[in-house]
Amino acid sequence: MKVIVVGSGGREHALIWKLAQSSLVDKIYALPGNGGIEELAECVPIGATEIDRIVEFSKNADIVVVGPEVPLAEGLVNKLPKNKVFGPTRESATIEADKSLAKELMQRVGIPTAKFKVFTSYEPAKDFIENIKYPIVIKASGLAAGKGVLIIKNKEEALEALYKIMVEQAFGKSGSKIIIEEYLEGEEVSVIAFTDGKDFLPLLPSQDHKKLLDGDKGLNTGGMGAYAPAVLTKDEIGKVINQVFEPCVWGMKKEGAIYKGVLYAGLILCRDEITSSLQLKVLEFNCRFGDPETQPLMKLLESDLMEPILATIEGNLKSVSLKWHPGYATCVVLASGGYPGSYEKGKEITGLSEVHNATVFHAGTKRVETCQGISMLTSGGRVLGVTGSGKTLKESIDLTYQEISHIHFDGMYCRRDIGSKNIK
Ligand code: AMP
Ligand code: GLY
Repeated sequence: MKVIVVGSGGREHALIWKLAQSSLVDKIYALPGNGGIEELAECVPIGATEIDRIVEFSKNADIVVVGPEVPLAEGLVNKLPKNKVFGPTRESATIEADKSLAKELMQRVGIPTAKFKVFTSYEPAKDFIENIKYPIVIKASGLAAGKGVLIIKNKEEALEALYKIMVEQAFGKSGSKIIIEEYLEGEEVSVIAFTDGKDFLPLLPSQDHKKLLDGDKGLNTGGMGAYAPAVLTKDEIGKVINQVFEPCVWGMKKEGAIYKGVLYAGLILCRDEITSSLQLKVLEFNCRFGDPETQPLMKLLESDLMEPILATIEGNLKSVSLKWHPGYATCVVLASGGYPGSYEKGKEITGLSEVHNATVFHAGTKRVETCQGISMLTSGGRVLGVTGSGKTLKESIDLTYQEISHIHFDGMYCRRDIGSKNIK
């Protein structure tokens, strides 16, 4: 089978790494791929948002797997034959592309989430933040690569954030509608599940680290590292499917949008101190695999990834189950200095060939051939996701950081505490 994977991040490298091991896959094209993906797939210089060119190129393959949210939100799936594409349609992708619609759906179908209010203009939002309790969270409603969420401690910060998002349009049109919501505290867990619109097949729970700095401080990023499995029992995952995934997908279906693909729920968990029962709230839905959660998940997945992908497309998910390698996997993101703000590109990456005990998933990298040979240069904010596995979480973390010590590029930055607060 010939497969196209749309996208160029660490998530897509991890998906391609796993698809390359499938007995069902003979050839992989990446649109456009990256420096690392080139070793496993034919990279074709078509950008992930060049919808018409992707549709045209899709004639070369049997299946198209769409990685990132932007082409999903722009309706790539609507333009491809249903029996050939993996991912939700434009209508279903609004669950991520318009956070305010997602919050309103959650309210309608009774999915637990933070209390919120939606604003479409600056003055009413400014009046609202005058007399409320802090901290609060302000979110751009549209897509902002994980950077459009601001945790606000007081009124001064709220005023500044509203001005930045709604007047200066720091996130472009994505901030023309905003959500102001209650600040929640607890452990964050990502649950990602395949769904064909009828059944649900969850992957292992995972945990991302969205903040830039150690100790969960600093700005929100696309994600600085992740590990799996995170702390949820089988029963608790069942509860997440019943309380979150089913009402979401069935609620969308009732309103005319059949969801097929993977659905990602970002959860915040609180345990009752006496009964230790689980209270959960949904922070966000995404219409695709998480990045960097996919990196440790693919490292741990034993089953052939093509099977749930095909079953989702065929509406036959009930017939598939997933097998996992035992133990844990941890991915630490190596980022360009300055990310998630502005950063320089084109820095040479050294030491990759010295990494033997972890998998290096590439994100913002570019392979260049010079007269001295081939070198790998940085070309994005999140550059590499080094992913190691081990019998325990601690073993997977220690191994990953040990392997990172071989890698260098100017300005390289990584968090030093990925997964560490969950080592028992
Ligand atoms: P989102 O893209 O909505 O998941 O938000 C990105 C990150 O911001 C989340 O992973 C949380 O760390 C944080 N966040 C979002 N909403 C809230 C909230 N209501 N309370 C506390 N933190 C939040
Ligand atoms: N890791 C967060 C996301 O993929 O949105």
